[in-house]
Amino acid sequence: MTAVVHTRADLAEARAAMPGAVAVVMTMGALHSGHEALLRAARQRAAHLVVTIFVNPLQFGPNEDFDRYPRTLEADLEICRRAGADLVFAPDRDEMYPRSEPTVRVDPGPLGEDLEGGTRPGFFRGVLTVVLKLLNLVQPRYAFFGEKDYQQLIMVRRMVRDLDLPVEIVGVPTVREPDGLALSSRNRYLSPTERAAARALSAALRAGASAAASGADAAGTLAAAHKVFADAATSQTRLDYLALTDPDLEPGPQAGPARLLVAAWIGRTRLIDNLPVHLA
Ligand code: PAJ
Repeated sequence: MTAVVHTRADLAEARAAMPGAVAVVMTMGALHSGHEALLRAARQRAAHLVVTIFVNPLQFGPNEDFDRYPRTLEADLEICRRAGADLVFAPDRDEMYPRSEPTVRVDPGPLGEDLEGGTRPGFFRGVLTVVLKLLNLVQPRYAFFGEKDYQQLIMVRRMVRDLDLPVEIVGVPTVREPDGLALSSRNRYLSPTERAAARALSAALRAGASAAASGADAAGTLAAAHKVFADAATSQTRLDYLALTDPDLEPGPQAGPARLLVAAWIGRTRLIDNLPVHLA
């Protein structure tokens, strides 16, 4: 049975009735099979699964898609039930931010200004602030995050380490469409021609990963990815960044495990993706 609560008081009461380990999956709703993979992984790890659904205004810039972000609560609840969630916490804005917006926020440090943070100022302040609030409200032993949002996963791990939060962060690999496109709630904005153009992101990452597997160095790996992105590009495609970092997002990896990350606009929709690569 999946209970649904909308207030912190009801959440606290339901949480208090969970004797064993609790895992949380935090989402903004518009759930798809990528979210479902997180729910199922979390369900397996802990006695109880709590899912949060909240479109967090703090992490949207003034010209971003907060107002049009898809809100599909009934369908989301069906996925939560199917995946065996014990509890769904779906607060409204006033419940999360009763005194308008918080003046005290989490400072994400220098990495918060880079990559996603470079294009979306304040994004990681907003993400880490709501993640910390939800961790405090749910008090889980485990919190599951997707590798799809790789920088978010790394920043959450750093917050947990730097602020000594009593929770274990678990990363879950990216779930993709058959052609490679990473599942995202924002994919539903894409027109059929934009959907076809969106393949450029995962195709570029795969090209970089296979170049590295064939012995390319860091520059050769990036060049292979750039070439495939450019070849797949249409008039609707605009690259934001293509970056090769170490697994902790530090720049300039020379050998060993690394991460290739991409962000691009397809029409008005901004998409991100990433893959692990191994530099010889
Ligand atoms: P949202 O975009 O709804 O994503 C919720 C979680 O699902 C994140 O951990 C994300 O990485 C994961 N996820 C999304 N698509 C995935 C895919 N294709 N494969 C695997 N995992 C995937 O990320 C957020 O919400 C918000 O920033 C949040 C953490 C909830 C804070 O507001």
